[in-house]
Amino acid sequence: MKMTAGQPSIVPGGPLLEAVALSKSFGPVEVLKDVSVAVDPGEVHAIIGENGAGKSTLMKLLAGHLQPTRGELRIDGKTVTLTGPVDAERRGTVLVHQEILLAPDLTVAQNVYLGRELSKGMVVDDRAMNEGARQAVRNLGADIDPDVVVRCLSIAQRQLVQIARVLLVPHRVVIFDEPTASLTPIETRALLKVIADIRAKGVGVFYISHRLPEVKQIADKVTVLRDGRVVARHPANELQPVDMARLMVGRDVAKLYPDRHAEGGRQTILEVEDFSVPGFAQHVSFQLGKGEILGFAGLVGAGRTELMEGLVGLRPGRGAIRINGKPRQFPHVDASLKAGIAYLSEDRKGKGLLLAEDLRVNLTLASLDKFRRSLQIDRAKERVALDRAIGEFDIRAGRKDMLVSQLSGGNQQKLLLAKMMMTDPSIIIVDEPTRGIDIGTKEQIYKFIAALAAQGRSIIVISSEMQELIGICDRIMVMRSGRIVGAVTGEHMNENEVVVLATGVKSGEAA
Ligand SMILES: Nc1ncnc2c1ncn2[C@@H]1O[C@H](COP(=O)(O)OP(=O)(O)OP(=O)(O)O)[C@@H](O)[C@H]1O
Ligand SMILES: [Mg+2]
Repeated sequence: MKMTAGQPSIVPGGPLLEAVALSKSFGPVEVLKDVSVAVDPGEVHAIIGENGAGKSTLMKLLAGHLQPTRGELRIDGKTVTLTGPVDAERRGTVLVHQEILLAPDLTVAQNVYLGRELSKGMVVDDRAMNEGARQAVRNLGADIDPDVVVRCLSIAQRQLVQIARVLLVPHRVVIFDEPTASLTPIETRALLKVIADIRAKGVGVFYISHRLPEVKQIADKVTVLRDGRVVARHPANELQPVDMARLMVGRDVAKLYPDRHAEGGRQTILEVEDFSVPGFAQHVSFQLGKGEILGFAGLVGAGRTELMEGLVGLRPGRGAIRINGKPRQFPHVDASLKAGIAYLSEDRKGKGLLLAEDLRVNLTLASLDKFRRSLQIDRAKERVALDRAIGEFDIRAGRKDMLVSQLSGGNQQKLLLAKMMMTDPSIIIVDEPTRGIDIGTKEQIYKFIAALAAQGRSIIVISSEMQELIGICDRIMVMRSGRIVGAVTGEHMNENEVVVLATGVKSGEAA
């Protein structure tokens, strides 16, 4: 740790941005304790740690979104007090938030330029903004129509728009808080290249991710937070992903994926035939066996999420659905829930959780019938269920009556899983089940999914993380541009074959 205490002037070659002994409390709970970190010009400094370790809080302090309880910030060796995010941006520090903070009813271009619209004379220059936004997103390796309203985009597409918006602000330090959490390997590769380019220009980068191979690939230095304290700091080339995992979790995470025995000749439980979701998925047919874990792979925009939303009645779709041979129709999501299908949305904030409510209310929301006693809700029974869920899913909440918005991202995800399981489903569709989840908890969630399959429940998993699909699924369907382009099992379930199908390009050609 470089210390520049007592040097008020610019330190040549010193860090661009430095936190010295920062602490942060929310009420009585201290979530950061004496944390010091710094970033040098042209350095990528990764911050890793379990869910709730304090990574996002630290980044918000660095970017002026929160004020420290104790400690100080230095920019070019000079102590500063940031009055807010705008002040931080003016001084060159920009933050790509973990949560998506775009205006859902504005277009991509309007969002990219929100608050700093381009104008021609007195009028807003829509054409220039559209072109600028298209290019900014293209620089990230994606193709998104700048005229589309953000509400219509997938979470991954929104993440890319948010990154594009931030990178248009002049910057000396860029903070990325889980930028790749819902990106597939192809988009991730493009983003890591962008980060390498900005590093080459002398920009300092803080980088947060639960995808440790990616951290290994991009970082120069790695700092590990545990329970709000720095517990380790190493040059990235001295650490392998398994070392990072051990430092984060405090134990060995040697085997991430559980052993499973693929069974032949399963009884079909769900049949989907010639199903279309207008604009997103065309003529999709597949079957799901009892106790099977079926993966859906594809690039951002392949239509996987929209297909599943169509199947469960969250958006209009048409085609045949049969459950145990019986034709079914789900005009709305309550109908599919009643039929025993639980759907876990990738959009935990928009579609999964009530952020302004506490844990208990959220947990029982989809299964309230179980908690009714005459006309009342049995609060005591709810509290027992919450205690069980907190234990079973290892939900780390400072207090049980916390609002969901105050939980760390990964802990929100665990609560969503717990909520879904309260409905006792026979078919479970999970969209990005481990988005933003730390590696120790991932291991628990994979075990949990395997156990559900062993109980005879059937599971569909959408994931942007290829290794995850390969690690836990019996079979993987691959989608491209709204169609199923292949299915792989056994030895064909490898990253190369899936990527070739998903992109339609032989490996090596894929940019
Ligand atoms: N506004 C708040 N009020 C109370 N507690 C909060 C608030 N914001 C964050 N916390 C708590 O601070 C701790 C650190 O949260 P933080 O979001 O920084 O974790 P994180 O390391 O980013 O985790 P994740 O990997 O899940 O994103 C958590 O226990 C969280 O519940
Ligand atoms: Mg976080």
